[in-house]
Amino acid sequence: AKAVTIPALLAMRAAGEKIGMLTCYDASFAALMERCGVDVLLIGDSLGMVCSGYDSTLPVTVADVAYHTAAVARGSKNAMIVADLPFGSYGTPEQALASSVALMQAGAHMVKIEGGAWLAPTIRFLVERAVPVCAHIGLTPQFVHQLGGYKVQGKTEESAEGLKRDALALQEAGAAIVLLEAVPAALGKEVTAMLTVPTIGIGAGPDCSGQVLVMHDMLGVFPGRKARFVRNFMEGQTSVEGAVRAYVAAVKDGSFPAQEHCF
Ligand code: KIV
Ligand code: NA
Repeated sequence: AKAVTIPALLAMRAAGEKIGMLTCYDASFAALMERCGVDVLLIGDSLGMVCSGYDSTLPVTVADVAYHTAAVARGSKNAMIVADLPFGSYGTPEQALASSVALMQAGAHMVKIEGGAWLAPTIRFLVERAVPVCAHIGLTPQFVHQLGGYKVQGKTEESAEGLKRDALALQEAGAAIVLLEAVPAALGKEVTAMLTVPTIGIGAGPDCSGQVLVMHDMLGVFPGRKARFVRNFMEGQTSVEGAVRAYVAAVKDGSFPAQEHCF
């Protein structure tokens, strides 16, 4: 297998091959996911909820993400490894760089950062200093207390226009991937068509360049509420490996997400 790089993701987008991404927090799952053809492994700050049992992502620290990133890096060879900058770790460009250096030195190839156009200077600062960035917009869970819960974003014309402006500004600042969470499928399609970089959707419809899910959700082991955009890929399978292979196949052939998973 070949290493999944930024040019490789751009080539996949150009060829119309969907990008398959899952969250991953340890070496054993990293090896399994890579063997099953998952292109991108995300050490999400969701680890605070699914691994540590917190009720939001806010308590997660850079050291927490770095610990799990190092484990994933040891378990994988070719997948792209993206690590989340957690809450409070990117208040200034300088702080974002220090946090990113810790994650890259733990084995990440890219960092993911939550927020809109206001983050453009931070993203530019990172990219100029050799830190590739995935921008995360739409439902940004670190903003849960401002959003008033985990709600679909971009439903009004005004907020949809705002999201489109954010996506363009973040691409312009140098983001290599734009991740869209919980937005109407039509908006996911529009943003993907507007951009030249790949988009990754989670609850953003089938027209994004790729898809991501939290592994505990797609394996049906997270005890919390199941979001509309989640499909339990263990159903009909007899092994975790079978479920991950079914996820990759469904992303690649476009059958996931289906209408029932979309807003
Ligand atoms: O933390 C996470 O797992 C994420 C994905 C849901 C995109 O940010
Ligand atoms: Na996250």
